[in-house]
Amino acid sequence: MRGIILAGGSGTRLRPITGVTSKQLLPVYNKPMIYYPLSVLMHAGIREILIISNPRFLDTYRELLGDGRWLGLEFSYAGQPHPAGIADALRIGRDFAGQEDIGLILGDNIFYSTGLPSLLRSERDRLAGCTLFGYPVTDPERYGIAELDEDGAIRALTEKPEKPASNLAVTGLYFYDNEALSLVSRLTPSSRGELEITDLNRLYVEQGRARLVNLGRGSAWFDTGTHDSLLDAATFVQLIEKRQGIRISCIEEIAYRMGFIDAEQLHRIGRRLGDATDYGQYVRSLVGT
Ligand code: G1P
Repeated sequence: MRGIILAGGSGTRLRPITGVTSKQLLPVYNKPMIYYPLSVLMHAGIREILIISNPRFLDTYRELLGDGRWLGLEFSYAGQPHPAGIADALRIGRDFAGQEDIGLILGDNIFYSTGLPSLLRSERDRLAGCTLFGYPVTDPERYGIAELDEDGAIRALTEKPEKPASNLAVTGLYFYDNEALSLVSRLTPSSRGELEITDLNRLYVEQGRARLVNLGRGSAWFDTGTHDSLLDAATFVQLIEKRQGIRISCIEEIAYRMGFIDAEQLHRIGRRLGDATDYGQYVRSLVGT
């Protein structure tokens, strides 16, 4: 499976803080927002990752993340000049994905739960069609919403319904088989001028090849699209990290624990980070420096 992080959009709902920078580069407590979705793909064992952003900011992403080798990963970059929709990321990523399955994640989505890494790996292995990840919310009109039947199969998907049939939001993490690349060419832009991911997911539902995994209780999901949700996410990360002394979505640690880099490489990263911050000290402590 290859990964795509969509870090596009113009951050309209976060102005003025997105005046001169890309939303997904903003800090969420102690790390850039994109570290969080990146860590999800890493936990799924995905090592080849395409980062899509507004061409204005591509160089900044390259400067931050490089070619990925320092994390034992391989990053590619592509521009999305206009916010043409989430499904458009699959069109942009067609050559990158080649014949592989695709793990697509939105650059502003933050996931946290103890069992997530093993869940991601087992869902990746059993993928047949498309797998969506649901999360119950109190404001369903803001999201893509799934309606399930008694057996947990998806009956309907609706994008931002005025009268939601359920409170189960479809989060911004999607696993697709390679057929998604041809299905996406069947889509036409919605009334907001975008290729809607919900329309693509509906094609899979019609074929009976869509599955929804409810992340449910005991897990956290944030999309950081507004000032308040950005602060909520940061507060959540700070709280867990301070209380437990761990770091959430520390990509250097994940690369090491997943075996993508060895102790020597982590040691070098630690030296570069220095010990002026808790984050640097934490990374250094993992290899006893
Ligand atoms: C998008 C999707 C929506 C999904 C949400 C998750 O919404 O269209 O289905 O629930 O991401 O963050 P948007 O960010 O375009 O409002």
